[in-house]
Amino acid sequence: MTDSSQAQAVDKNVEEVGSRYFLPRNLEEAERMQNQHEWLKGGANGLILAPIDLNRSGLRVLDAATADGYWMQDVKSIFPKDAEFVGFDNASQSVPRSPEGYPPLKDSSQFQIVKQNLVEEFPAEWKDSFDLVHQRFVIPLFKTEEVPLVLRNLIRCVKPGGWIQLVEMDFQTPVSKPIESCPAVQAVHKLTSTVVSDPLASTKLAGRLNDEGLVNVGYKAIEMVAGSSNSDPELGARGKRNMLSVLGFFQSVAKPEMIGMTEEEWKTLPERFAKEMDEHHVALNVYFVWGQKPEAR
Ligand SMILES: C[S@@+](CC[C@H](N)C(=O)[O-])C[C@H]1O[C@@H](n2cnc3c(N)ncnc32)[C@H](O)[C@@H]1O
Repeated sequence: MTDSSQAQAVDKNVEEVGSRYFLPRNLEEAERMQNQHEWLKGGANGLILAPIDLNRSGLRVLDAATADGYWMQDVKSIFPKDAEFVGFDNASQSVPRSPEGYPPLKDSSQFQIVKQNLVEEFPAEWKDSFDLVHQRFVIPLFKTEEVPLVLRNLIRCVKPGGWIQLVEMDFQTPVSKPIESCPAVQAVHKLTSTVVSDPLASTKLAGRLNDEGLVNVGYKAIEMVAGSSNSDPELGARGKRNMLSVLGFFQSVAKPEMIGMTEEEWKTLPERFAKEMDEHHVALNVYFVWGQKPEAR
């Protein structure tokens, strides 16, 4: 791809994504999502915590808001060979690839990605047809009153006896220690909580799945450590990199006065945040939430 056609592809993606997706769709963001994926997988010790039996043959998996399908490509290694994967996103999957930058998807032959909006009607053939429906890092893009519609659309796709797993960050609850020594971390919580529609949406998902009539609802809050206090230095570095790029984005769409900061405090925030990740236990909670559709009577 030439520089100018790549630039056009990036612009097209930005247009297609529209205003809902609050992170830009480009190479840097794809790399950030992959780094975040690896950080989370390491921290949670896996990608699926829902108690689904992965040994059955003929399993069908739907990944909602899949972006470029990186989750599907990785997770398929823990499923039997005949498992089938479908991903959807409202943005085109054609994320431009750089020649070196970050690795292209190795093998997309075992899955397909289609265009579908979470708040529009889903294809009729998806109803009751997936053993696992997965969605990660999407709920805060929606207003609180839209979340039930999104969940209902996803739950409709789950087979009776099948599972849904949702994975979302808690933007608000401070789990860094000692929190009084981490003013930059506190400022980042304040900033992210100001920008997203419901910073505690992740903590309410289990209740929502119960309300929708699912059974065996469960959740686990995983403390994701960013920086030097992670016992695995590589994961710590991934976490630090991810947190700094997320902060970069939030700063690009907000203003210092929104969180009562001076220009100078705002300018030095990334540097102070990085230092706290080097010197203290900086972390955030990520919720894995799951539920099972009751067997048909
Ligand atoms: C933060 S990314 C997460 C991507 C992927 N699930 C992951 O965990 O790496 C959010 C994704 O949601 C998609 N998205 C946003 N609004 C959507 C909508 N209304 N319907 C479908 N996908 C949507 C975006 O295009 C983007 O790929």
